Order: sequence, then C-alpha cells, then structure tokens
Amino acid sequence: MTNADSMPAIPTTDAVRPVALTGDRATGPLHLGHYAGSLRTRVALQDTHRQYLLIADMQALTDTMHDPAKVGRMADEIVLDYLAVGIDPDRTTICLQSALPALAELTMLYLNLVSVARLERNPTVKEEIGLRGFGRAVPAGFLCYPVSQAADITAFRATAVPVGSDQLPMIEQTNEIVRSLNRLCGTAVLPEARAVLSGAARLPGIDGTGKMSKSRGNAIALSASPDAISQAVRAMFTDPAHIRAEDPGRVDGNVVFSYLDAFDPDADLVADLKDRYRRGGLGDSTVKRRLDEVLQEALRPIRERRKALAADPAIPAGVLARGTQDARQVTGAVARDVRRALGLRLT
Ligand code: TRP
Repeated sequence: MTNADSMPAIPTTDAVRPVALTGDRATGPLHLGHYAGSLRTRVALQDTHRQYLLIADMQALTDTMHDPAKVGRMADEIVLDYLAVGIDPDRTTICLQSALPALAELTMLYLNLVSVARLERNPTVKEEIGLRGFGRAVPAGFLCYPVSQAADITAFRATAVPVGSDQLPMIEQTNEIVRSLNRLCGTAVLPEARAVLSGAARLPGIDGTGKMSKSRGNAIALSASPDAISQAVRAMFTDPAHIRAEDPGRVDGNVVFSYLDAFDPDADLVADLKDRYRRGGLGDSTVKRRLDEVLQEALRPIRERRKALAADPAIPAGVLARGTQDARQVTGAVARDVRRALGLRLT
C-alpha cells in the first residue's frame, strides 16, 4: 500500500477547475428536498469542479445549542447520506465546519462589514426567525449565521454554490461582504460567488405548507424505510376540494404532482395523469400509488448503499477526518491572505 493519506487526493489538473462549495446544517439527516434541490447537482459537479462539502455543525448550533450532542452525532449520518447518493470522497472533499478555525476567524472579521439592520432584512433569516418564534430573543449566532456562511463560501474561494432557491439571499450577502472587503483592501482578495440552482423547483413539504425541512416535520429522509415512505405518501397534501374520484382536481399546489414532476422518470405518464386528474375521473389513491412506486424505486438503492457503508463506522469517520485535514490547509491559507490584504500584522 502507498502512503495515500499524505498524497494530494486531487490530480494537479484540478487546480484550474472552478471551486464549488455547499454546506448542510447538521440538525437532521438529509431528505428528498436536499436531493431535488442540490444533491443531484453536486454529484454532477464532481466532473467539472473542485468540490467541497461542508457539514455545518456550527450553523446547526445557532438554533440547536440545547442539544449539541445531537449535532455531533449527525455529522457521520450526513457523510453516509453523501456517499449513498454518489458523492465520491476521492473527487469531493467532505469536511467539518467546527474543525476549521479559519472559518471562525473570517466570521469575526466579516461581522464588522455587516450591519444588524442588514441581517434583519435577510428574507430567509427573517422567515426562519418567525418559524422558530424567536422574536427579539433570537440568538445572536442565529441572526449572524449568514456571515458565517459567507466565511464558509469565501474560505475556499468558491465561485459556484449549488443550493436551493431559499439560499439565494445568503449568496447575495456573501457577495456584499466580498465587495466591501475587496474595496477596503484595494485589491480583489476574494472572488464573488454565484448560485448553481437545480432545474427542479423547490420541493414542498408533504403537508404542502412550504419547503420540505426537518424542523417543520414535513420531510422524507433519504434513509426512510419503505414503510415510512408509504406512510408519508398516504399523508401527502393533494387538492382538498377533490373529494370523489369523478370530481375535477387541481394539479397546481398538489404535492403529489410536485413530487412526480421531480422524481418520475416517465414524464409522458405524469402528463397523462395530470390531464385525467384535471378532467375528473382519477382518484388520489391512484396517483399516490404511482408516486409510492417512484419513490420506493428512487430511494431503495440509496438506502441499501447507506446501510452497507454504515456497517463500518470507520468509513464515514475516515472520510471526514481526511477531508477536514485537507480543508484546514485551504481555508487557513485564505484566512491568512485576507489578514495580510487588510494590513493586519502576521506573526
Ligand atoms: N444554510 C444552508 C442550509 O440551511 C447550509 C449551509 C451552511 C451552506 N454553510 C453553507 C450552504 C455554505 C451553502 C454554502 O441549507
């Protein structure tokens, strides 16, 4: 065996590839919303980008400080989710936010480039504060997490950020910080980033009230059992006015059809189902049966790969340790460049 651990995991030709970075809060296992929104994109980016995936445990703590151990346990689960959907640790660096001191360092610097008023205007943060009922008691860390996210993105000099549309305000705030910093330094120390949005629209939660998210309890985990999938499909919001199969039904805002659009490989069949549903004569149970089939088919290979990988805890732990070590070099160098460009003294 060679000393693979000390060798650069990435061939030198990758040095010219654009950098992609995304993170996931370590509050719960990844779900179908992540899959439709950005995991599929990330798998594809492995062919074209130098990609980093960040397990955002520090960001998770901004609303889960009452249960830090849960956040700790979640890291390996998310690594397993990544590997199960086809993220290849030899082509993507998977790393842990809290183990990268440069991110905290950059966050402290950037906090001085952002006003509290600007943070309070961030639409995603505003919505999340409302959802959690924080009001004025919002933890300062929560209000400021877009700044820490700007540190995540810039510490890798990422220019591509594969995310769902709810994350657009974060990228906007990141770029404002980048522009302020570059102006202040009189040089382009850091590049601006852009979102890489998936073609699919934001996936609603199974209750149809908004986006799918663990904290809203309306998610289907990638690791969900066959029974849990069927149960979620049965509970799914359709058209409340569509009572008897003969009635004409609404397709827009009907969660079952949103999911078929996102996951059914047979677009013609979906178009036909929509047509019959609109006209009347197609019951919810028939459409749900199709969706159950489609989701079972999509999630079975993911669940099986995940189970095989989980059997050896050294696998996720090793992937995370190796990736974090790699990321520590990259982010440490960038933080040093920023300090130097600002004219701070380097010891
Ligand atoms: N806020 C993102 C989410 O809730 C997670 C995240 C943390 C992130 N750091 C990031 C996304 C950096 C993109 C880039 O899903």
